[in-house]
Amino acid sequence: MSDPNELLTVPRELFVPPVVWVDDPATDGFVSVSRTEDEPRWRALVETDGPVVTQVDDGRTPPGEVGLHPSSSCSQPYLVAAMLDALDVRPGDHVLEIGTGTGWNAALLSELVGEHGHVVSVEVDADLAEQARRRLTRAGHTPLVVTADGTEGHPPHAPYDRVICTASIREIPRTWIEQTRSGGVIVTPWGTDYGDDALTRWEVHEDGSASGHCGTSLAFMRLRNQRRNFLVPTEQQINEAETSTTRRGGRELYEMVTFCQASFTIGLRVPNCYLTVDDLDQDHRAVELHDPRSTSWARASLVRGEHPWTVHQLGPRRLWDEVEAAHHWWSEVGKPPPRQYRLTVSPDGTHTVRLHTPHGEHRWAVTP
Ligand SMILES: C[S@@+](CC[C@H](N)C(=O)[O-])C[C@H]1O[C@@H](n2cnc3c(N)ncnc32)[C@H](O)[C@@H]1O
Repeated sequence: MSDPNELLTVPRELFVPPVVWVDDPATDGFVSVSRTEDEPRWRALVETDGPVVTQVDDGRTPPGEVGLHPSSSCSQPYLVAAMLDALDVRPGDHVLEIGTGTGWNAALLSELVGEHGHVVSVEVDADLAEQARRRLTRAGHTPLVVTADGTEGHPPHAPYDRVICTASIREIPRTWIEQTRSGGVIVTPWGTDYGDDALTRWEVHEDGSASGHCGTSLAFMRLRNQRRNFLVPTEQQINEAETSTTRRGGRELYEMVTFCQASFTIGLRVPNCYLTVDDLDQDHRAVELHDPRSTSWARASLVRGEHPWTVHQLGPRRLWDEVEAAHHWWSEVGKPPPRQYRLTVSPDGTHTVRLHTPHGEHRWAVTP
């Protein structure tokens, strides 16, 4: 990657709002930190190379209360630089950003395109879009900030040379490909339902298709309309669930939940399955699998010193068995890392992932 300091030319503190949110183990949620009340803590968050959560629960939880889900953030500087590096913006480019958030990335893009380029940034949340507009104007940047659903792109200013999405997605909307010029580039966090996402870079072709590959692993919040979902069974349902044990050990479990190990492959082979990992206490970790569509759920309880571990499975799918089988397949074909896979979207919108192994080519159609 290029030197991040060459790309991160706009101070982040101009864009982070005066109230931010931090993970709070005591409440198992997010609590607010106010710049007016605790400037050193606010500043420490802004100056650290980490994401800063700027909104929770789509803005429904006010400061002072406990939030449950981060819904907007100022992304981690290292990843912002990695994404800009992959996007390879040139002076004079026309760029579309989806997910304005604080406006910091839109300001960085405006610097990169220069006075002859143009940036359009789309934000679904009207309040966030308005705040970003104000900060951008104050900082002397003039991108067009549009309040809309970014999955529609922004047709009036198409075609774009570059499209960047700063939320993660499960499928590339056709509109983004249609609004990118042939030879143009789309950069977005992309992933299956299972596990983390990959930073992906796609090139758009003359025939309306796009092809891409995976880079580094990252955890971004999803676009609002492509969010993952999970299932919370009742105690009674769990007590009635099918119970078995798994012979898998700690190393295999680590591979199953880690993106640069098996989790990318598992996500392709076990569709519509969402993974959560919870450290319940120092000696007890719960790995859960959720498929709300078929109301299937599984939990492996990893208790220190109690191997083989207990597995509970509920619903028509045996999600744990599917994940174990996918992990086995990944081991058999030589443990391919995500960067070995090739991604394509055909002109009709079908997403296909390909993997070449010494045993031949494997393909998956990624279904929405
Ligand atoms: C990680 S934040 C973006 C960070 C931002 N680029 C910055 O520099 O601060 C993701 C943003 O995507 C927005 N978002 C989610 N779904 C969206 C959608 N369908 N269309 C447009 N924006 C969306 C969220 O409201 C959130 O502000």
